Amino acid sequence: MKLKTPLSAPLDRVREYWNNRPCNIFHSKKEFLSKEYFDEVEQRKYFVEPHLPEFADFSSVKGKTILEIGCGMGTTTISFAKAGAKKITAVDLSEKSIEIAKKRAEIFGFENIEFYHANAEELSKVVPLEKYDLIFSFGVIHHTEHPEKIIKALRPYLSEAGKLKIMVYYRYSWKVFWIFLKHSGGKFWELSKHVAKFSEACIGCPITYTYSRRQARDLIQANGFKVVSLMVDHIFPYRIQDYTKHLYRKVWYFRWMPKFMFRFLEKTLGWHLCITAVCE
Ligand SMILES: C[S@@+](CC[C@H](N)C(=O)[O-])C[C@H]1O[C@@H](n2cnc3c(N)ncnc32)[C@H](O)[C@@H]1O
Repeated sequence: MKLKTPLSAPLDRVREYWNNRPCNIFHSKKEFLSKEYFDEVEQRKYFVEPHLPEFADFSSVKGKTILEIGCGMGTTTISFAKAGAKKITAVDLSEKSIEIAKKRAEIFGFENIEFYHANAEELSKVVPLEKYDLIFSFGVIHHTEHPEKIIKALRPYLSEAGKLKIMVYYRYSWKVFWIFLKHSGGKFWELSKHVAKFSEACIGCPITYTYSRRQARDLIQANGFKVVSLMVDHIFPYRIQDYTKHLYRKVWYFRWMPKFMFRFLEKTLGWHLCITAVCE
């Protein structure tokens, strides 16, 4: 999808990109904004990203307070609510995503979720300061101009015994390797540009950073957190042309690859770097 206006400020372009196509909006062909639509979006997201429920550890949030950064259409937000979270504060830069997520909460009857349309780099300007048991952010901070500002902004919101769980994209991944082979024409010095362009389902994401394990650890630990676990996971194995028609046919080499080998590959060259941190 092309951007309609040439926007200069990077964050305006990021907002416009996610407003044009909120994350996972085409995950269902059911009536848009219906309960069935949201159920299918959820089912499809966790089918394609099976490590996500495990990382989010929904079963552990009963009675807890959660701050979610970059909630998108609210898939994990609603899963936290379904799992019995006491209170959820969900933030996103895209007003369109927030609108959809709000509607979703309404449909599922959750009144304990507060939504904020905000730039998480400047969280305290919008979201009242209080301590949360869990701060969760999945696939978000690498899309903003200054991810380090988000990490810094988050620290005051985490309770002393709380956890920060955050997923960023992994640099030494199958996906980056594949983008290099397919789109860079061998120009490794332009790789970052190509990674941003092809990182998402919708071509042309304005900002996408990738991190090595060390860079991710340093980013988080520079801001008063201590990383307690860091794991790589997730390779998307399906043929894109089938996937867009909601068919799940793997590309030929993944079809033939033994499951254990595929899992090994995911755990070493996966696209998602899932990090858990606590207060230092
Ligand atoms: C790839 S989507 C992920 C959405 C959701 N976490 C999920 O897994 O479905 C990235 C989201 O990050 C949001 N985002 C990007 N930069 C942001 C910022 N500075 N502050 C708040 N949200 C931001 C975008 O609007 C978008 O909804």
